[in-house]
Amino acid sequence: MITSASTQSKPMKKRIVIFASGNGTNTQNIIKYFQNSKHAQVVCVLSNNKNAKVLARSLDLNIEALSFTKAEMLAPQGLLSLLNNRKPDLLVLAGFLLKFPEIIIDAYPNKVINIHPALLPKYGGKGMYGHHVHKAVVENKETHSGITIHYVNNHYDQGKVIFQKKTTIAPQDTPQDVAQKVQLLEHQWLPKVIEDVLTKPSL
Ligand code: GAR
Repeated sequence: MITSASTQSKPMKKRIVIFASGNGTNTQNIIKYFQNSKHAQVVCVLSNNKNAKVLARSLDLNIEALSFTKAEMLAPQGLLSLLNNRKPDLLVLAGFLLKFPEIIIDAYPNKVINIHPALLPKYGGKGMYGHHVHKAVVENKETHSGITIHYVNNHYDQGKVIFQKKTTIAPQDTPQDVAQKVQLLEHQWLPKVIEDVLTKPSL
C-alpha cells in the first residue's frame, strides 16, 4: 500500500469528548491544555443544559458544543450515534450532574471517566455534587477534602479510582473556601490525568 509522507509522520491524536452541565471551568481548562498537545484534542463538548455557560466557553475556543434534552438522554440512541460519529477515545464527565446513560457506558467500556469534588468513597452518590459535597464536608468538620478521578460504571461514583489528591481544610473554612481549594486541584490535575489515561495503557 502507498501511504503519503504526511500521514506517515503525523500520528493520529486521541479524541476527547467532554460532558458538562454548568459553568465549565474544567472543560475550558482541558480544552486549553490540549490545544497544543501532540497526543490528544477535545473534539466536542456536550451538555444536558442548553443555557450552560460551558457551551459558550467551548464555542469561544472553537470547539463544537451541543446540547441535548432530557428525553434525548433517556432514550440515548441518537446521542450514542452522534458520539460514535465523532470517534472518541475517551469521554470525560467534567461537572456532568446527571446519571450517565448505561447504554453509553456499555458502548465505551473503560473509556468514560468522571471527576468528583471529594475523596471517594466519602461524599459520593446520588445528590452529592458541587456545593452539596462541600457543605457536607464542612458540616462534618472534616480536616481534609480533595478530588477523585475515576472510571464510570453503572453505580454513582463507584467506578475504579484512577487518581486522588488531598487538600487541607482549616476549621474556619466555609463551603465556598473548600470549593475554591478543590477547584484549584481539579484545574491542576484533571488534564494531566486525562493525558496519562490516553497515553499509558496500564491505567
Ligand atoms: C466540579 O467541581 C466537579 O468536580 C463537580 O462539578 C464541578 C463543575 O465545575 N462535579 C460533580 O460534583 C459530579 N458529582 P465546572 O463546571 O466549573 O467545571
